[in-house]
Amino acid sequence: LKLSLKCNNKQHVSSSEVYGHYWLMKNYIKAEHGPLHCATNVTYTTHADYLYLDNLVPLLERWLSPVSLALYAPGDDFDPTLHSILWLRQCHKSRHLVRELVSFHIYFMVTHIPRILPTTDTALKRKIDCSKPPPYVNTTHSSLYRVKMNLTYPVNMGRNLARGASLTHFVLASDIELYPTPGLVPAYLKFYSRKVVKHSGEWLNAPVVHVLRIFEVQANATIPTTKSQLQEMLVQGEAVPFHLKVCRDCHEGPLLEEWMNDTDSQYSQDLNVFNKGTRLPPHVSWEPIFIGSVNDPPYDERLSWEGKRDKMTQGYIMCILGYQFHVLDKAFLVHKPGITADQEFHHSFYTHQTNRLISLRIIHELRIKYGRRKGCEL
Ligand SMILES: *[C@@H]1O[C@H](CO)[C@@H](O)[C@H](O)[C@H]1NC(C)=O
Ligand SMILES: *[C@@H]1O[C@H](CO)[C@@H](O)[C@H](O)[C@H]1NC(C)=O
Ligand SMILES: *[C@@H]1O[C@H](CO)[C@@H](O)[C@H](O)[C@H]1NC(C)=O
Ligand SMILES: *[C@@H]1O[C@H](CO)[C@@H](O)[C@H](O)[C@H]1NC(C)=O
Ligand SMILES: *[C@@H]1O[C@H](CO)[C@@H](O)[C@H](O)[C@H]1NC(C)=O
Repeated sequence: LKLSLKCNNKQHVSSSEVYGHYWLMKNYIKAEHGPLHCATNVTYTTHADYLYLDNLVPLLERWLSPVSLALYAPGDDFDPTLHSILWLRQCHKSRHLVRELVSFHIYFMVTHIPRILPTTDTALKRKIDCSKPPPYVNTTHSSLYRVKMNLTYPVNMGRNLARGASLTHFVLASDIELYPTPGLVPAYLKFYSRKVVKHSGEWLNAPVVHVLRIFEVQANATIPTTKSQLQEMLVQGEAVPFHLKVCRDCHEGPLLEEWMNDTDSQYSQDLNVFNKGTRLPPHVSWEPIFIGSVNDPPYDERLSWEGKRDKMTQGYIMCILGYQFHVLDKAFLVHKPGITADQEFHHSFYTHQTNRLISLRIIHELRIKYGRRKGCEL
């Protein structure tokens, strides 16, 4: 992989820059792992506000590889965010994993600068009282500065910041509540190397990403670590495919039921491709999570979480560029335990605004930039 993948090794440095309306503090708190070769590891890239930091350790315990995490921390959200990071690095029983593997980036709008913004060195010297719980425990969403100030969550700014800061070529750009199967990184690298040998490198330039199926489990269930455990839970009704009731078209994709029924893949230890899909009809709204690379199309930074459809423009570009979505046979993601009921999202103001932005502007820009392809829809 080192020889055939022409990626550039990156320096692991902190930086701070104003970018549009935002202030981006990249690598504000850096992971302590040494230099990484760009071809020999996979980075989990994600975004959150500090209330989601309870997911970090369960995620790390399964992933055991680098994590690049962008935290949105405007105004008074900054201090509890930093406190939470330091609590995880100083007080958590798995603090060694946090310190070794996680690089934290922080971003906010220039119009909502925190009152005090310590330098990295000053921040790292701060001693946390470990006898008190971290700020992300027992804090409600409505008490966030962002919510009180009626700010939307700039999800794609975070996604691009985290992915851009990855030191590795391969990334799993995901949501922090989605936990991968243990051993995925070494299995993936082995799988990829086999492909490169078999196709003598040609295949490297093809636009292909590797999809992970997503499941939810009951709040009191243990998270499955293998496909056969998952399948047992699916039969018992303790696990279900992710969000099929919320948005079937976004999550189902091709051959989901066949994937769930599959027993053949258990005869091999190695990771393989189960089936291949595209975003052409009937899967025009499919929003899979996949292992791809830092060079995959960016997320549109004008789209917010509240407006929904925040990953649709990326999917549309990938469709135009002819990307193939190869579904891995025995690796998958499990959402933090607890099956979400039929959620009703009421963000009509923002979804309306987003829909207008997409249909009046973004679609035209994308057609100019990437051209058209029959069957691709936004
Ligand atoms: C990826 O990097 C982490 C942190 O340095 C290391 O513990 C892990 O073994 C690496 N994985 C591989 C497959 O080299
Ligand atoms: C959080 O709140 C719950 C319910 O009010 C309480 O039982 C629990 O002890 C609190 N946890 C911490 C760490 O304060
Ligand atoms: C929040 O912002 C939206 C859009 O700017 C606006 O329509 C709404 O009235 C605001 N709500 C509050 C409580 O300020
Ligand atoms: C887990 O929760 C479900 C639904 O709330 C319940 O039916 C089941 O008995 C619980 N299982 C255990 C082992 O507590
Ligand atoms: C999957 O298995 C179930 C239960 O055995 C069966 O009813 C269903 O038809 C299978 N589906 C597919 C697509 O093979």
